[in-house]
Amino acid sequence: MEIILQTKKAAASGDLVAVTLWKSPNNGRFTPTGLAASWDRQRGDLQKTLQQEKFKGKRGETKLISVAGKGNRYLLIVGLGEKNRFESEVVRQVAALAVKAGHKVCAATISIEEFSIPQKRGASTVQLLAEGAILGNYSFDLYKSKENVVPKTVQRVEILTATKNPRLEKDILRGKMIAEATNFARDLINTPASDMTPRRMVEEAKKIGRLPHLSVKVLDREACKKLGMGGFLAVAKGSSEPPYLIHLIYRPSGQGGRPRGRIAIVGKGITFDSGGLSLKTAQGMETMKDDMGGAAAMLGLMRALSGLKPPVEVHGISAVTENMPSGSADKPGDVVRTLTGKTIEILNTDAEGRLTLADAIPYAIRQKPDLVVDIATLTGACVVALGELCAGIMGNDQKIIDRLIASGSEAGEKIWQLPLLEDYREDIKSNVADVKNIGGKGAGTITAGLFIEEFVRPKTPWVHLDIAGPSWTDKDHDLCPKGATGSMVRTLAYFVEKGI
Ligand code: BES
Ligand code: ZN
Ligand code: ZN
Repeated sequence: MEIILQTKKAAASGDLVAVTLWKSPNNGRFTPTGLAASWDRQRGDLQKTLQQEKFKGKRGETKLISVAGKGNRYLLIVGLGEKNRFESEVVRQVAALAVKAGHKVCAATISIEEFSIPQKRGASTVQLLAEGAILGNYSFDLYKSKENVVPKTVQRVEILTATKNPRLEKDILRGKMIAEATNFARDLINTPASDMTPRRMVEEAKKIGRLPHLSVKVLDREACKKLGMGGFLAVAKGSSEPPYLIHLIYRPSGQGGRPRGRIAIVGKGITFDSGGLSLKTAQGMETMKDDMGGAAAMLGLMRALSGLKPPVEVHGISAVTENMPSGSADKPGDVVRTLTGKTIEILNTDAEGRLTLADAIPYAIRQKPDLVVDIATLTGACVVALGELCAGIMGNDQKIIDRLIASGSEAGEKIWQLPLLEDYREDIKSNVADVKNIGGKGAGTITAGLFIEEFVRPKTPWVHLDIAGPSWTDKDHDLCPKGATGSMVRTLAYFVEKGI
């Protein structure tokens, strides 16, 4: 799909023209502006139609009007909601709705005059529209027969602006790169676990490693054993698929000297989580191909960085493996020694993500980053606490936590902080090892966070994102169909672009 800028002087040439309206304060009476106003002048009945149809201008509300004669064939009106409750996400939504509404059209024009909203911070309107068009156009059809695939017809999206300039073109490109990276992460997660094996994850990482400014290292089981990654390898024991540690590196160049800081992103990469011998229920396993959502976010981000070219060095790391039950699986009661020397009593083999992170995070810290961010579909408790729409965040550096939450809000991803209460550290003390991999009755997300913190050694600024809720959606949304969401690719891209 092509996304181009069109100045107002040229005719809006799309077969579908999308215009937006704020929620009407006086019950259904609108004063159309911009393109909608000229449309109203020409045809004279826009207001009447909207009133008849009881269009309120609620956020995401749409009205598709088909037009006789030549030229544009459809007018799509999209509600923006209340002006004082504006969130930039609604701009993405407008583009997504325009692309979706035009099932039989090849080009959609979006008029952006109506978005004359004071933008305090964050991405420009054209970037948001580019993101929305590409995210909204996503579907996962790889495993469907042709007759079951809804064809995508929109080939061109025109954004109607007052003037064209190179900055706007750049913003479109940036939006495209971020959204395409998100869709790439969605593809990785949506692909069935029997195909998206650790080996396949390595292949995908190697492809990314060939992009400009990137390189990749892969450690096999032997290499991980030599380093002493007993936590990670214990999880891998039950699977017949070999585990790998993926290490991608983005190094900026041509910025005149040394990079401005170094960030390590560690993604949980369980390509399938059966629970191991602490087996999940059938229903509990249904979506567990998404347990590499953290690794997918990392891979999506690294791919985007090749084009975004921020002035920071970024290390993307993931310990990828399946978590399976078998005669060779790790057993409740086992004790393992990790990279830092710290030992773990494995009391529940389904709390496997933290075992892999216990090795992957110290490995990341050996790269001497200024900051480590780990992203993991870590706890069901986080889904209970915050639901499907919100990620949990914890860490040892409040400033960075605040900055990530802010990046999330600009990126359209909600993140909420949970407290790393020291008092709960008692709950992960073991009788036989240094720590155990489960906590007490409550606060499962927090005890998981405290557990990970034990492995942030030597101490480094660290932030943990629990995306067990938002990595997957059971509902269709304007910007994402049911299934994998590609959670945190956007947030991380916005975050990394700002540098540290
Ligand atoms: N991958 C799961 C967490 C999860 C649950 C992600 C639901 C997405 C949706 C994780 O490995 C897990 O099973 N955690 C256990 C931990 C418990 C045994 C301490 C959980 O949350 O039940
Ligand atoms: Zn598990
Ligand atoms: Zn898991």
